[in-house]
Amino acid sequence: MKIRKISSKETLALRNEVLRPGKDLSACVFEGDEAPRTQHFGALDDEENIVGIVSVYYKECPSLQLQNAYQLRSMATSPRCRGKGIGRLLLETVEDFVKAEEVPAIWANARSSALGFYLNAGYKQVSDEFMIEEVGPHYLVMKAFSPLCIQ
Ligand SMILES: CC(C)(COP(=O)(O)OP(=O)(O)OC[C@H]1O[C@@H](n2cnc3c(N)ncnc32)[C@H](O)[C@@H]1OP(=O)(O)O)[C@@H](O)C(=O)NCCC(=O)NCCS
Repeated sequence: MKIRKISSKETLALRNEVLRPGKDLSACVFEGDEAPRTQHFGALDDEENIVGIVSVYYKECPSLQLQNAYQLRSMATSPRCRGKGIGRLLLETVEDFVKAEEVPAIWANARSSALGFYLNAGYKQVSDEFMIEEVGPHYLVMKAFSPLCIQ
């Protein structure tokens, strides 16, 4: 398994399969996908198939008063490859990227079904459960890399 930077186009098939099943591919294109500080990563199996994806967008989180932050979105592993550490590897990769950018915090709207995945990786749950229309229940989670970023 290897991780490499991928284009936003390369994320679309897995976004469609896992995160927006049954929707048109256009529903899998997210605001900021092509922004200069956005980065997409993919996990590739031995046949170079993309079996895991994650994206990070340089974006403030007003409800946490985080201005200098990255939003993590679009985390997914292929259903046939779950439980093998791919999601964790992708999380570590984006965290290394965010730290290298000297940005002190990362936040995400975590699906309630995936909350344990983030808590397991050291993220803090910082909201009650809320609904995102057409997607489902979520929690706001975050991880700070700097003691100045107190939450
Ligand atoms: C959530 C998801 C990305 C996890 O990917 P994965 O490759 O299976 O995760 P890993 O194998 O790296 O798991 C890492 C750890 O998190 C735990 N974990 C994984 N998914 C979990 C979940 N949904 N709830 C609780 N814990 C979870 C694993 O047991 C493992 O724990 P360990 O380190 O103690 O062994 C994957 O299940 C997925 O794509 N789900 C559907 C889409 C989704 O919900 N994405 C998140 C959107 S916010």
